[in-house]
Amino acid sequence: MSPASKLPIALAAGDGIGSEIMEAVQHVFAAAGVLDQIEFIEAPMGDRVFATGNSSGISDEAIEAIERTGLLFKGPMGTPIGGGGKSINVTLRKKFSAFANLRHFQSLPGVETVFSKAGVPVDFYVVRENIEDTYGGIEHRLTNDVVECKRLMSAPGCDQVHRFAFETAERLGITKVTCSHKANIMKMTDGLFLERFKHVAADHPSIEVNDVIIDALCMNLVLRPDAYQMIVLPNLQGDIVSDLAAGLVGGLGFAPSANIGDGVAIFEAVHGTAPDIAGKGVANPTSLLLSGLIMLRHIGLAKQAAIINNALVATLEDGIHTGDVKGATPPVKTMEFAEAVASRLGTMPRTCVPRVVGTDDRVRFSPGCRPNSYTLRRTFEQVSSQICGADISIATVLPPFELAAKLQPIVESGPFRLTLISNRGTMVWPSGSVHTEIVDECRCRFELKDPALLGRIGQGPVIQLLAKVAEKFEVAEFAPLKRWDGKDGFSKAQGQ
Ligand code: NAI
Repeated sequence: MSPASKLPIALAAGDGIGSEIMEAVQHVFAAAGVLDQIEFIEAPMGDRVFATGNSSGISDEAIEAIERTGLLFKGPMGTPIGGGGKSINVTLRKKFSAFANLRHFQSLPGVETVFSKAGVPVDFYVVRENIEDTYGGIEHRLTNDVVECKRLMSAPGCDQVHRFAFETAERLGITKVTCSHKANIMKMTDGLFLERFKHVAADHPSIEVNDVIIDALCMNLVLRPDAYQMIVLPNLQGDIVSDLAAGLVGGLGFAPSANIGDGVAIFEAVHGTAPDIAGKGVANPTSLLLSGLIMLRHIGLAKQAAIINNALVATLEDGIHTGDVKGATPPVKTMEFAEAVASRLGTMPRTCVPRVVGTDDRVRFSPGCRPNSYTLRRTFEQVSSQICGADISIATVLPPFELAAKLQPIVESGPFRLTLISNRGTMVWPSGSVHTEIVDECRCRFELKDPALLGRIGQGPVIQLLAKVAEKFEVAEFAPLKRWDGKDGFSKAQGQ
């Protein structure tokens, strides 16, 4: 790319310490010659946009710049507490389908941790699914006392993040990818995540794979973080494990983050706006700088990224650090830290393996085409489904046996019979234990009386069933039950 046609990248410095750390990163980028090849386009978002009454916090100008460039480099953004303002970070990832969150956790010289003291190197990646899971934020109040959050997971959504993980692993020379999940409990949602992991892994036979239940992973990470190279996780579990991993390498100030989608990639600092130190010029720019280095590699400037990475490590080795890092020497200010990094460009680290400075030093990136409409992702697998019943959730304080006695005559004449009542997922009828404490929401399962009707009835009869139950009871929720390719598409109750 000629200097006359620099690659445009949308830039949002952020709130609080955002402008201070962004200025520091730009200083290092300028010194490394990066700004000869890219130009930043301001994308207004954050506090000043919320202040105009825009509850998304993201201006139309910013959306246009992100869609046009396919790239966003951003500092931390404040989320207004109360008042309906949503997190800009979550909105951006979902709006632009940045489906994979990539974070690199690596011990850095001069950043003391329990592992650095024990001589255990930490160097692994976390790939977190970024859009689905409980982050859909689909929540309902069902009864006086019960609320619910729906956890939607899709096969195409799982495939996208797993494919990204394997392709990234291949690019980075990673030889083993681990899938973490809770499929022993959430057999359908986490079960799907694990099943699609194995499905995608089959296309990458050179990479060793394994899976680990999330609770065991947390213990393993604290005991032997060096056992992992890359871990891929569903959204909420990935969110928690990412912060745990940040703690292993010295805190959020050292954890870079990239949110990658097919059309847009967002590179951001993972810490917040640090209002307690904003305006003092003392913030640590390392997280934002490391996120910027992932961005440089993403657009083809791997050589510049390696040179800056080595200079950053050499700076830390020399004991130069900001006030948030414990060290033997007095802390420096944000811009002094940036100047120290800039002055060490070309210097190799002494105490760890340097980043290989290759030859890729030209921009190799072009933004994808803007889709004309919403893109439907499907796995295109042929499956057949058959209705076999319905779960009807009822707001009630009746004891389960009394509820069953009142429901049975209602459905006597139809094709369904009451087979199960559960409360908070535990079977309380036809059998159960009086020690099971119950709340004011019962899930009542109705299934076909005659299995021969399977495949011969449509949605009409279950809707009629719902209408009959609703005449006598307060319905809190309704879900048709289906069998998919002969397998139940619904979970069993605990104790069933
Ligand atoms: P925070 O990360 O801003 O601060 C937590 C502590 O870490 C504070 O003591 C702060 O001084 C320190 N800290 C954070 N970054 C630092 C840095 N670069 N250098 C030195 N010290 C640093 O978390 P908090 O206080 O919970 O959130 C403040 C605001 O930031 C909230 O509005 C929150 O919604 C937002 N936030 C934004 C994020 C993002 O944009 N990615 C992520 C997390 C929070």
